[in-house]
Amino acid sequence: MERSFVMLKPGVLQRRLVGEIINRLEKKGLTIVAMKLMAIPRELAETHYAEHKEKPFFSDLISYITSGPVVAMIVQGEDAIASIRRLCGPTKVHEAQPGSIRGDFAGVTTKNVIHASDAPATAEREIELFFSPDEIVEYRAGDEDWVY
Ligand code: PPS
Repeated sequence: MERSFVMLKPGVLQRRLVGEIINRLEKKGLTIVAMKLMAIPRELAETHYAEHKEKPFFSDLISYITSGPVVAMIVQGEDAIASIRRLCGPTKVHEAQPGSIRGDFAGVTTKNVIHASDAPATAEREIELFFSPDEIVEYRAGDEDWVY
């Protein structure tokens, strides 16, 4: 089983889409093992997105992600990282197909609706950044034998 860090961005809460997006992860058979509603401090946002520090959109990205509450999650499943990225669709939202989360809910990349780790090393770093070990709940979902 693999774990990914997933974050529903501020627009999702403002537009009351939390349930709808989480529903897509659940329907795929993925399991939420940690979840919290939080306002991201600026410093944490800058650390999380440090690799984009030199990009022209960095300040817009930080302003947006700190503009309201987010839902941070650790989501577990077979091949979870790639599987969630496929559910999300491409980061550039104009490339995202209808049926994907970004394709259905995101209007522009600047106001992207979801973040999901892109590789195992990134997932590990992001999970550690947002969660302490005692916030992660180990359990086996009842339908796992039917999903995998
Ligand atoms: S890049 O340049 O390809 O490395 O960037 P990319 O991986 O596409 O995007 C990295 C994150 O920045 C967000 N992003 C933006 N935010 C605000 N404005 C603009 N123009 C913009 N372009 C990209 C994008 O949604 C990615 O955020 P996450 O949270 O990882 O999805």
